[in-house]
Amino acid sequence: MESVSSPEAAAFVTALLLFLVIGLRWIRPKAADVALLAAGSVYIVALSWREIPEPDPGIEVQTPVRERSLVIRRPRQRLGDGYVSSSRCAECHPQNHASWHASYHRTMTQLASAQTALAPFDGVEVRVGDQHVELEVEGQQLWATMDDLDVPPVARPVRIKRPIVLSTGSHHMQNYWYAAGQSRILEQLPIVYLTEDQRWIPADATLLTPPSTEPVSNTGKWNESCVYCHSTHGRTAPTETGGVDTQAAEFGISCEACHGPGEAHIDFHRGQSAGDASDPIVNPSSLSNHLSSQVCGACHGFTAALTFEEYQHDLLDGYRYRPVDDITKPGWLKA
Ligand code: HEC
Ligand code: HEC
Ligand code: HEC
Ligand code: HEC
Repeated sequence: MESVSSPEAAAFVTALLLFLVIGLRWIRPKAADVALLAAGSVYIVALSWREIPEPDPGIEVQTPVRERSLVIRRPRQRLGDGYVSSSRCAECHPQNHASWHASYHRTMTQLASAQTALAPFDGVEVRVGDQHVELEVEGQQLWATMDDLDVPPVARPVRIKRPIVLSTGSHHMQNYWYAAGQSRILEQLPIVYLTEDQRWIPADATLLTPPSTEPVSNTGKWNESCVYCHSTHGRTAPTETGGVDTQAAEFGISCEACHGPGEAHIDFHRGQSAGDASDPIVNPSSLSNHLSSQVCGACHGFTAALTFEEYQHDLLDGYRYRPVDDITKPGWLKA
């Protein structure tokens, strides 16, 4: 549609009709009124035309993107519940911080950018399996154009262009997540980068899933599942407007995932806690084998909610389990 020239054409016709009105007023006043009405209508139509942006045929560009300030909704990092983040520990434990900083635990979940991406993104076109994905970089922002897996297979391909916001992994592979455009919901890029082989493979070839003849959408998976083991104190709560608010104390597996929330420990060592208080930080090596294996097993194993109440709690407020709890004894669920 040549919508750009339409307003100009309409303005020309409106001007012509207005001249007609002025001329007619002298000879036939009734006809002049009709012409005035016509001029008004053309003017209104021209205005509403101007409101319609020109779409790029076939590609739907996400709306919250403004030219100057890029507004992208994604899960956010927010402290609270006694969590203070690894940067606060660095001050007194520089060695522990350095060795953790170099670990795969830290780079498990990262804000995706040209700097953190292990895969090449600049002007790359990937065709693997049923997928055809075009990757671009603008400044630090990564972009992908691909088929919209959220529309029914019969309606595909509908191409969408989305900003990549988070990445999962850095060790064997790296997954990428884009902002779905609704609240903080993420959708998975349908291709995954194998770091050692330096090549892309279809995402559905990386995790064991029920067989399907069509590529399926993973919209919301990060928010409802991955967040619990791939970040520290992750949680997802519904918002009043029907979306979700996904938060993590820290992206990646940081100190407090294994040592428990650190606020009270810092207060203790700054002499800010009550006189008879003991240091509440957890050192897994001081726990029994039974309990210390759970510190790691909470993620390196499978934990399923036993009751609906427990499931709901985990979803809203994050896992109730903290290092030092006994996950096999329901007692820890009461807190
Ligand atoms: C104000 C300084 C300070 C800060 C900040 C701090 N710690 Fe400590 N931490 C100490 C001191 C002092 C000790 C006891 C001596 C030692 O082991 O170095 C300690 C000990 C520890 C221990 C061993 C406890 C034991 O019983 O063996 C762990 C684990 C620990 N800290 C984790 C953390 C974590 C995680 C953070 C960040 C959330 C943190 N610390 C922040 C001062 C601090
Ligand atoms: C119950 C905890 C748990 C959940 C939930 C979970 N993961 Fe993981 N994931 C792990 C652990 C533990 C590892 C490391 C395994 C290892 O290296 O031996 C891992 C490893 C990975 C890796 C490999 C990373 C790398 O650097 O090579 C990817 C990719 C991954 N997970 C994706 C996901 C996605 C996507 C989801 C959500 C759909 C998810 N995981 C949900 C615990 C979990
Ligand atoms: C994946 C789990 C994990 C993460 C993440 C982790 N630690 Fe530890 N940490 C342990 C375990 C297990 C021990 C006990 C075994 C040991 O000493 O190596 C320990 C021991 C410690 C100790 C006491 C022994 C020592 O080396 O002084 C301190 C202090 C500590 N960690 C601080 C930190 C800080 C600070 C961070 C983040 C910057 C961190 N840890 C991240 C698991 C973890
Ligand atoms: C909050 C969840 C979580 C906790 C707690 C956790 N891990 Fe992990 N761990 C992960 C995830 C996710 C990965 C995958 C990171 C990667 O490989 O990129 C991982 C990776 C690892 C790896 C690298 C695996 C490989 O293939 O080389 C080791 C080793 C490891 N964890 C040991 C531990 C130990 C030991 C503990 C307990 C002291 C622990 N983890 C606690 C989630 C966790």
